[in-house]
Amino acid sequence: MRIFDEKEINYVREVLQSGSLGWNRNGMTGRFERAFAEFVGSKHAITRNSAMTALAQAVSCSPAGWDTEVICDPVVHFGGVSALYENATPVFADIEADTLLMDPNSVRQKITEKTKALIVTNMWGLCARLDEIRQICDEHNIFMIEDCAHNMCSYWKGKHAGTWGHIGVFSFQQGKHLPTGDGGMMVTDDDELDHKLYNEWAFGGESPAFFTLNFRMNEVTAAIGLAQLERVKGYIETYNVCLKHLNSAIEGCEWLLPRRVDKDAVQSGYIWCCFWQGDKYGLSHDRFKQVAREVGAPLGFGFVQKPAYNFDVFKSAVDHNSPARKQFKRHAPYPGKMYSPDDCPVAEDTIWRIVNCGAMYPTEEQGKESAEKIRKAIDIMNKG
Ligand SMILES: Cc1ncc(COP(=O)(O)O)c(C=O)c1O
Repeated sequence: MRIFDEKEINYVREVLQSGSLGWNRNGMTGRFERAFAEFVGSKHAITRNSAMTALAQAVSCSPAGWDTEVICDPVVHFGGVSALYENATPVFADIEADTLLMDPNSVRQKITEKTKALIVTNMWGLCARLDEIRQICDEHNIFMIEDCAHNMCSYWKGKHAGTWGHIGVFSFQQGKHLPTGDGGMMVTDDDELDHKLYNEWAFGGESPAFFTLNFRMNEVTAAIGLAQLERVKGYIETYNVCLKHLNSAIEGCEWLLPRRVDKDAVQSGYIWCCFWQGDKYGLSHDRFKQVAREVGAPLGFGFVQKPAYNFDVFKSAVDHNSPARKQFKRHAPYPGKMYSPDDCPVAEDTIWRIVNCGAMYPTEEQGKESAEKIRKAIDIMNKG
């Protein structure tokens, strides 16, 4: 259900008729930013050309950089890559086995005197325990960045994702809740950060006071973003109904563990998942994959297969003897403790268990159809 019609065309027409297509806080980008800030409940919003650049820029406006550490999580690589982009060492905190979210208890154990920032991924429509993470960051003077690429309309303790950290980052890439093709947004309550990002770091008027590149959004993209913002709640209502169908498909199945939604969390439908426990019941993972394929259940297995620190881009960054190191331009400046499975034992035993399925169906009917196919695969497995 991605609708692009007269609403988008009218805003784009306005931009074209204005004759001013470049990023402009008094134009469409400003309108999109103000509407977005109001939507999520933050003081400021700053348009960007993607979430990835916004994450890197968030690290660059934090105290993290050369010879410092940034705590991130290991299910996806975006936080770790942003840390490395600023030549900081990514340190991976473990996750909770039934949510895939950063575990605050593990964060506490990873803090050293070099820790200057933290990037928490609010994965697949669910927020991590953001109040606890913020408290830890405040206690240790750590700059908190939230990756909210999957989190329009998701809340923790009544506050929208992205508003617990010093900076929250959203993605408008085509596959996300609010698609503009590509694009991103940073949100913050801090006037000084907003000023820095707009004036000093975006070539918006003042000469750049810091080393940075241009990550601006243009007026045409902002016009589409403003129109999509008016639609996004409606999209997510449908995705949430699809989530419910997918959850009910695994009800009563003891070898598929549902993803836990904490009572303080409001989830938004994005990617649905549950966790394979069949090995504990003598079932074959390969057979489940095959059965799912045969009945046409649109399931993914194992997602990225292993925690992000196992990938060369990270391993070679801390291993100063790695031949692969030369291949990557960004390095941790000092030989860190090598990454090992002991870093995140829960992630090691959880990621391969992920069974996932998109929940962003255009209609409830399609979500229901997928749920029925999943149920069918479960029934076949149960019959042996
Ligand atoms: C969790 C997460 N963070 C960041 C990004 C990067 O977003 P973008 O494509 O807007 O750079 C993605 C993209 O898939 C993502 O899933």
